[in-house]
Amino acid sequence: MTTRPLIAPSILASDFSRLGEETRAVAEAGADWIHLDVMDGHFVPNLTFGPPVVKALRRHTDTFFDVHLMIAPADPYLAAFAEAGADGITVHVEAGPHIHRSLQAIRGLGKRAGVALNPGTPAALVEPLIEAVDLVLVMTVNPGFGGQSFIGSALETVARVKAMTAGRDIRIQVDGGIDATTVEAAARAGADVFVAGNAVFKDGPEAYAARIAAIRAGAEAARGGPGPRAC
Ligand code: DX5
Ligand code: ZN
Repeated sequence: MTTRPLIAPSILASDFSRLGEETRAVAEAGADWIHLDVMDGHFVPNLTFGPPVVKALRRHTDTFFDVHLMIAPADPYLAAFAEAGADGITVHVEAGPHIHRSLQAIRGLGKRAGVALNPGTPAALVEPLIEAVDLVLVMTVNPGFGGQSFIGSALETVARVKAMTAGRDIRIQVDGGIDATTVEAAARAGADVFVAGNAVFKDGPEAYAARIAAIRAGAEAARGGPGPRAC
């Protein structure tokens, strides 16, 4: 299934003192999705924000909210993120023993269910989950921080997930170290949703549209030109 590449700026790299304005600005600059990184200081060695912040940001844009939970356990918080305005919720396969239950719960809340894999986790772990997911997130850095270097070996995982999901309506997302250059190899491997933090936000709001366009152009070039416009 060929789908148009989606660019999902991660507000982790934005100015946290102006989160509402930043979210609106990046949406108006052409973001397809807004990526929200939730960290608990336990599953990953960093802390960010929870459902009240997602709810506050919801007032600033109608753009799809792609909530990436780097928390363990995740299940006790799924309903709160859904109520706060998440459109898609992604949980890590490494975060607990009941990943299938978590994915069922997300769909039960009426949201798109995503499963994430760390760079050290084999693609085979998502095989039994294929019927239960709308998105597979392959981390291209170890989760916890923005601004890290892209781990190229994760693209082998992307390729395996691509083969596993052939013909299904499942998005393949990459997250970490994505910029106008690394996006090309990720797109060639089979990814079609590209999270980018620093590559979008690093030069301030005047550059957001150009930064998003450059990443999109890299993804489209890798696929041999602009794809169909449907999501
Ligand atoms: C890392 C987060 C990423 C991060 C990406 O744990 O999941 O979404 O914001 O940031 P960059 O694009 O700067 O690597
Ligand atoms: Zn993320």
